[in-house]
Amino acid sequence: MEKSFVMMKPDAVQRRIMGKILTRFEEKGLQIVAAKLLKIDEDLAKEHYGEHSEKPFFNDLVSYITSSPSFAMVIEGDDAISLIRKIVGATNPKEADLGTIRGDFAMDMGRNIIHASDSPASAEREISLFFNEDEICEYKIADDSWIYE
Ligand code: GTP
Ligand code: MG
Repeated sequence: MEKSFVMMKPDAVQRRIMGKILTRFEEKGLQIVAAKLLKIDEDLAKEHYGEHSEKPFFNDLVSYITSSPSFAMVIEGDDAISLIRKIVGATNPKEADLGTIRGDFAMDMGRNIIHASDSPASAEREISLFFNEDEICEYKIADDSWIYE
């Protein structure tokens, strides 16, 4: 099983679509193993998106992410990292396929609803940035044998 860091951004919280988004992950058979609502401060936003610090959109990205609370999660499942990126869709919502979260719920790159880790190294870094180990729940989910062969 693999863990990914996934975060509904401030626009998802403000638009009251958190439940719909969470349902997509649950219905696929993925398991939520940690979750919290938090207002990201500037330091955390800059660290989380550090790889983009030289990009022209960096200041707008930090303002967006710190503007209102986000809903951070750790989600577990087989090949969870690449699978969740597929469920999330392309970075630019106008190019994201319909049926993906960004394709169905968003219009602009700077309001693209959700973040998901893009590699095992990113997932490890991002999970430890947002969660302490004791906030991650290891538990067996009842329908596992109906989800996995
Ligand atoms: P995340 O899951 O949020 O990391 O998105 P991503 O991995 O699909 O894209 P990337 O890491 O390249 O960019 C991080 C975030 O910066 C994106 O999700 C967008 O919110 C924002 N972003 C990226 N490119 C642009 C851009 O060209 N313009 C604007 N305004 N925002 C951008
Ligand atoms: Mg990214």
